[in-house]
Amino acid sequence: AVTLDDLARQSGRYFGSAVDNPELDDTPYANLLGTEFGSTTPGNSMKWDATEPRRGVFNFTGGDEIVNYAQANGLSVRGHTLLWHSQLPGWLTSRTWTADELRSILKNHITQVVTHYKGKVFAWDVANEIMNEDGTYRQSIFYKTLGPGYVADALRWARAADPNVKLYLNDYNVEATGAKSDAYYRLVKQLKAAGVPIDGFGMQAHLALQYGFPNQMGQNIQRFADLGLDVALTELDIRMPLPSDTAKLARQAEFYGRVTDACLAVRRCVGITLWGYSDRHSWIPPVFPGEGAALPWNGNLRRKPAYDAIAKSLAAA
Ligand code: G3I
Repeated sequence: AVTLDDLARQSGRYFGSAVDNPELDDTPYANLLGTEFGSTTPGNSMKWDATEPRRGVFNFTGGDEIVNYAQANGLSVRGHTLLWHSQLPGWLTSRTWTADELRSILKNHITQVVTHYKGKVFAWDVANEIMNEDGTYRQSIFYKTLGPGYVADALRWARAADPNVKLYLNDYNVEATGAKSDAYYRLVKQLKAAGVPIDGFGMQAHLALQYGFPNQMGQNIQRFADLGLDVALTELDIRMPLPSDTAKLARQAEFYGRVTDACLAVRRCVGITLWGYSDRHSWIPPVFPGEGAALPWNGNLRRKPAYDAIAKSLAAA
């Protein structure tokens, strides 16, 4: 059977899905992941709380499990994520650090994790969600302690640990043009001008039917590509107010088709990753009560209209 990844490969791209470790024990789910997709991203197990649960003590068990599963099934792996304000271990957040201390902690974390996964992940979300909606820097412990220079440092440390892995900045609500994506556009320009290694921009693409389609997504992808970056849609899902019905599923399918078209229109949009592929396993219902049904496969692993819209778009590329 022709899969979404087969169709994406026709234009040199990948089509992937995130997976969280417990989902690998759901055999029908894991089997479909292994056959339909060409890439995966660990949903949680490469984050800081998982990889460095105690200072200087690293645990790669969960990440390795997903890498091994991916290798056995011919999937590439996107590494997610080296530096984020969320899912940090308690030892890191429960006290304050001097700038020198935190810089050395961050450098060691990035160096150890990137070195461990060298040759096993093709890309890293080096810094995740560092901007506010208004385009100012998020007041994370990294920003507050180190100032904005921590982003360039993180990219340089990642590059030093693996000269070949693609280094990304990654965020949500950056699919449309606007203050937040403008801030990334300016930052990438500055980083490039300063010779800081940066290869890609990840647009998470957590969309919602009720908020409409992101304005000018295609042009926005293009302007980052024009800076000499790869662009990837890294966490795509399109939620809706529940219950789903025929009309909402049709509109969701239209959105999925338009997102896929927007990527395919730009040569350097290298691939699309769903944040889980089925409504059976999704982060949305607990976080947005009353919303969900965001993925192209339903809870019974049956294809929804969104699947056909994606396939149609990929086949036309
Ligand atoms: O591991 C514990 C488990 O021991 C405990 O029993 C259970 C009870 O709540 O919680 C488990 O931890 C949960 C963890 O996922 C693993 O399942 C956390 O509560 C839960 O908050 C956490 O959610 C993750 C979320 O990031 C946290 O911010 C989601 O699975 C994950 O899909 C989501 O992914 C993020 C991306 O990294 C960045 N972009 C947004 C995206 C969606 O929020």
